[in-house]
Amino acid sequence: MSDSLCLPDRRQFMQYMGAAALGTVVSPGIGNAALARFQPGPAGGPGASSTSLKDVASQKGLLFGSATNATHLQEDKDYANLIAQQCAIITPANELKMRYLRPNPNAFKFDVGDWMLNWAQSHGMKMRGHALVYGEDAALPPWFNGYVNRNNAKDVMVKHISTVVRHYAGKLHSWDVVNEALQGADLRDTPWMKFVGPDYLEIAYRTAGEADPNATLVYNENNIEFAAQDNKRNGTLKILNGLLSKKAPIHALGIQSHLRWEMGGFEPGKMRKFLNQVSDLGLKIFITELDCHERDNDVKIDDRDRTVAQYYADYLGTVLENKNATVVQTWNLTDRYTWLSQQAPRRDGQAVRPLPFDQSLSPKPTFDAMVKAFEHAPSR
Ligand code: XIL
Repeated sequence: MSDSLCLPDRRQFMQYMGAAALGTVVSPGIGNAALARFQPGPAGGPGASSTSLKDVASQKGLLFGSATNATHLQEDKDYANLIAQQCAIITPANELKMRYLRPNPNAFKFDVGDWMLNWAQSHGMKMRGHALVYGEDAALPPWFNGYVNRNNAKDVMVKHISTVVRHYAGKLHSWDVVNEALQGADLRDTPWMKFVGPDYLEIAYRTAGEADPNATLVYNENNIEFAAQDNKRNGTLKILNGLLSKKAPIHALGIQSHLRWEMGGFEPGKMRKFLNQVSDLGLKIFITELDCHERDNDVKIDDRDRTVAQYYADYLGTVLENKNATVVQTWNLTDRYTWLSQQAPRRDGQAVRPLPFDQSLSPKPTFDAMVKAFEHAPSR
């Protein structure tokens, strides 16, 4: 969300599809041959697939899960069953953001987050924390702008991180401590950057590490997978190297992975090189928010689904070659509740289909692509 929304470019999209058809951006073993075997997902709604992504993933030492929302888990039983059947880990999509935890500058409200943690644990699942320091307006409380300034911003940030991380200490899989700090190669002009300064990252990670010394702390970023985003990959490496050289606690890179053709396509070679640079630092790699924008591609649903599945196949095939990649999480699991319905609706008015399960909770070709990618991944 930090990068300006590029207008979808039909030409670039067609180029991507052309390249995919020729096999030039297809990962070995998980490309066109696998797609050729795709059958439309079985009809029959919830539970129609007896395969679960979490089980296939776990055979390779991978943790599979999804972002989700408390209200959907509470109000939609079929959906909750699907999440429980398919996922080994969940992430509250909004409920642990400052906006939702902080009704006013002096109060913390943990009831919804606690409910989600309890739901996850009672279904044998883990939960990730997302996101402590996030400069996006939609993540900040309504009182933030009138209250936070140069004089109190550091105290506000430190109090927020230490209280929230202590509350959940020992109970979460990992925390996204800072989310989307970059604009290209440079630190983005968020309120945290403006009021605390560039040291805010180091302060944030140290504060989180002190509040829960055993927590797995993640830096989470968007749009770093696209071929054209060399700047952002370099900026990410600079952040990671900076934290490590100051001995601030940082354990993993979260790659959001909201795949988008209009961002200029994806190149396995560049991605492999970047992932090796990250794993050479001793960091784990988490795919944290996988989905696929599909504003303009094709019109027929079968073609659209194949195209999305192909992108997932290429992407997962490449990332999972790196054995430090240990978590794969989609940003919700079904088209019924995708944030892209609002964020990036199709221009032709049809509903978007960015996720492995459709609106009726039946698996799609993307589900098959994920199963195959997990099956082809080396063990870790
Ligand atoms: C999104 C949620 O899914 C939406 O419900 C909300 O309106 C806006 O935020 N990157 C992130 C997530 O790190 O926090 C965002 O979540 C999606 C983009």
